[in-house]
Amino acid sequence: MSQHDCDCATVQQVATGDRAILPKGAKTIPIYVMGKRYEVPETLTIMKAMEYAGFKFLRGAGCRGGICGACPTVYRKEGDYKLHFGLACQTVVEPNMYLAQIPFYPANRASYDIEAIEPVAESVHALYPELFRCVACNNCTKACPMGVQVLDYISAIKQGDIARAAHLSFDCIQCGLCASRCMGELPQYHIAQLVRRIYGKYIQPKAEHLRKRVQEIESGKYDAMLENLQKMDKAQLEKLYKEREREPDMAPLGTWMPKDTQYL
Ligand code: FES
Repeated sequence: MSQHDCDCATVQQVATGDRAILPKGAKTIPIYVMGKRYEVPETLTIMKAMEYAGFKFLRGAGCRGGICGACPTVYRKEGDYKLHFGLACQTVVEPNMYLAQIPFYPANRASYDIEAIEPVAESVHALYPELFRCVACNNCTKACPMGVQVLDYISAIKQGDIARAAHLSFDCIQCGLCASRCMGELPQYHIAQLVRRIYGKYIQPKAEHLRKRVQEIESGKYDAMLENLQKMDKAQLEKLYKEREREPDMAPLGTWMPKDTQYL
């Protein structure tokens, strides 16, 4: 029986590949990957549904947790003229989705030395002059699977407000879907990354505890401990890990301290 003929109510094996055994009680729905129809359990994410259908991700999958931006997907739904966007690892399949994976989208990335850069908006403008090709169509924002207000941060950069742009773009996972939809051909996500680097290095107030910790690391405070850990075998490391002091789940915020403070 081909997949096109399948009767989902009675057929157990509905797709090709290693994961073709239908979970008990699962209902299947049709989806289309590169134009070919597959029957997949309705509860799966796009990524798992594709694996269920026999695809193997060599690229276009990373964290599987909605963080790394490796799995952007564009899809259409039956009877719906709109393009939809999502992360394959987060978006649950719907009947008759037509899917296209975009694991990489080519976009200009400026080369710079963050140590030498002048922390002002003009530096960003000089490295990415295409910023001013933005026509404010807002397609970038509509394409963002993270709900980032892409057009707003691009506007903030043009207006010279690096701090606002850094805050607005904080949830960007660099998937590139914004750039794929931009008629001005901006690489929004690379521009935002530069802005956050400038903000983090030069503008954001420095955390005192972080400065102190870096100083301690550089002074060699932890060298002996690390050396000691490196000498341990797997069993010793596992024992140390399992027996470590752990913060109680319900400890009021900021109140817990381990008894052994030598690693702090
Ligand atoms: S695999 Fe990392 S965001 Fe989907």
